[in-house]
Amino acid sequence: MSLVKAIPEDLHLVKYEITQMMESDLNDVVSLEESTGLSRWGYESYRQELFNNPSSIMRTARGITPISVYRKVLGFVASRVIFDELHINNVATDPTFRRIRIGTTLMESVIKESRIYGARRCLLEVRANNVSAQILYKKMGFEMIGRRRDYYTMPTEDALVMQFLY
Ligand SMILES: CC(C)(COP(=O)(O)OP(=O)(O)OC[C@H]1O[C@@H](n2cnc3c(N)ncnc32)[C@H](O)[C@@H]1OP(=O)(O)O)[C@@H](O)C(=O)NCCC(=O)NCCS
Repeated sequence: MSLVKAIPEDLHLVKYEITQMMESDLNDVVSLEESTGLSRWGYESYRQELFNNPSSIMRTARGITPISVYRKVLGFVASRVIFDELHINNVATDPTFRRIRIGTTLMESVIKESRIYGARRCLLEVRANNVSAQILYKKMGFEMIGRRRDYYTMPTEDALVMQFLY
């Protein structure tokens, strides 16, 4: 399945909900991953995480209205709880549907759920030149706590380590 192609007349009329990621979402999730420059996980890794990792928290933002986006995957987040930490592995919003809080709402959703599992902080890595994601995280209350040199490949780039204390 391909990414959502329909462009709503007014983005602010788009309504969406945060739902559990399903196996049937994975083709859309992988398409989003590939088109947004994220580190590649691929179908099988998401599937493994979904079914074989009881501490994973995987969510999609699914369109409600208008009809052109109904049930479509507009964004996703893949995260997992390790001891008292929530690790964000990947988060992305379909480029057509950015700046309507989908990324923020996905992040808030997994942070809220991770508290139930005992998480006390959220950790993530972000490319040093990914300013838009960094603005989002800082707006949510994340702070930079470290830098991993040449952490990313293709292209090689440092990672900033960011943390949000609950
Ligand atoms: C980062 C990303 C997930 C943000 O998704 P989104 O749904 O557009 O985010 P939101 O609408 O919740 O944005 C919240 C705030 O973050 C900031 N922000 C988000 N994108 C921004 C941009 N391109 N430029 C400047 N600020 C931006 C803004 O302050 C925004 O609030 P505002 O729209 O009221 O000004 C999306 O740009 C994306 O998928 N990027 C590619 C994948 C990626 O980089 N993932 C992160 C890996 S660590």
